[in-house]
Amino acid sequence: MSKIRIGAIGVGGIGGHQFRVAVNNCSDLMQPVAVCDNNAEIAKRVAEEFKVEAHTDYKEFCKRGDMDAVIMALPHYLYGEVVTFALECGLHVFKEKPFAKTLSDAKMMVDCAKKSGKQLFLAGQNKYSSAFIKGKEIVDSGALGDLFLTRGAIIYRWGGAIDGNWSWRGVEKLSGGVAIIDAGWHILDMVHWYRGMPSAVYASTGAMKGAPKAEYDVDDKAVLILEYPDGGIGSIVSCYITLPGEMRVTLHGTNGCLDSNGGNLTYMIGEKSQEVTLPPQEFDPITAQMRHFADVINTGKESEIAGTKRAYEVMQIVDAGYRSAMERTRIEI
Ligand SMILES: NC(=O)c1ccc[n+]([C@@H]2O[C@H](COP(=O)([O-])OP(=O)(O)OC[C@H]3O[C@@H](n4cnc5c(N)ncnc54)[C@H](O)[C@@H]3O)[C@@H](O)[C@H]2O)c1
Repeated sequence: MSKIRIGAIGVGGIGGHQFRVAVNNCSDLMQPVAVCDNNAEIAKRVAEEFKVEAHTDYKEFCKRGDMDAVIMALPHYLYGEVVTFALECGLHVFKEKPFAKTLSDAKMMVDCAKKSGKQLFLAGQNKYSSAFIKGKEIVDSGALGDLFLTRGAIIYRWGGAIDGNWSWRGVEKLSGGVAIIDAGWHILDMVHWYRGMPSAVYASTGAMKGAPKAEYDVDDKAVLILEYPDGGIGSIVSCYITLPGEMRVTLHGTNGCLDSNGGNLTYMIGEKSQEVTLPPQEFDPITAQMRHFADVINTGKESEIAGTKRAYEVMQIVDAGYRSAMERTRIEI
């Protein structure tokens, strides 16, 4: 099988890292072609690292005609326009979370992917950690019984929150927000993976209290209450500006409970702890994810965990969360 010819758009932050992972850790599957960043210095630096061509205009880059796939890591407001352009140019797309800035951008991207016949793959590295994968197997086995309570938390202090430089993240019209759509995406993605779609959301968000040095108009903390069609309920707590850091999913069922932070997994049936042996990981989660993207392209089969169906559903929860916080009301999905 020939190698996937890959490029990347937006390489100054995590996009550069994802490209590095593709080139260095997936060299049996992928070969680098070119990179693009509208900051010419960044484009040049990353292009030199991989001895590929640099572009500053994403349209010109997507029209090269010698690539199969592109990695994208951009300010959120750009995804609708850049993802659809790349798909229309016949490229498979690996994009960073969140799926889109708005639900309407997300819908446009899903429709475009369907029409193009190309893969639109949404990154979310937690689903490739062995603790979370094992947790998912236990949940799906039904061993926990009926899940009546689900808790998810993501707390960390982002560097930009300390030095006060929020850049595009701190501007609502560029990012769409932070606590629900950005930091919160990671935990919503996990909870959705374990528990499926809620039927209603109630959310409250706050801002401008925890990082007084910074100028920003986005939510820096959020609490969401989730209601499920089976009568179960859940909560999500997300904050971008404080410590101690935490990324945790806890599920309580009629037969047992499960708790994981992605590194460890605790599992109880009744009051008895169960031994969980986590299999060694052949690849770190980010590498495993990139290899999964290659597999999706090579098989032509949309990913269940990283494909557009799940991505759109998580986007619906995000949208309901912000609407709920703004309207101070419970939103049915
Ligand atoms: N999976 C994760 O853990 C994780 C971590 C960080 C960021 N992210 C996501 O990755 C994305 C990017 O975040 P980041 O922290 O890397 O941001 P960043 O600001 O560090 O990097 C974005 C890059 O895009 C470039 N860019 C902006 N406009 C462009 C345009 N029109 N054409 C080409 N390049 C352009 C910028 O110059 C910059 O180099 C976001 O969606 C974010 O939510 C995910």
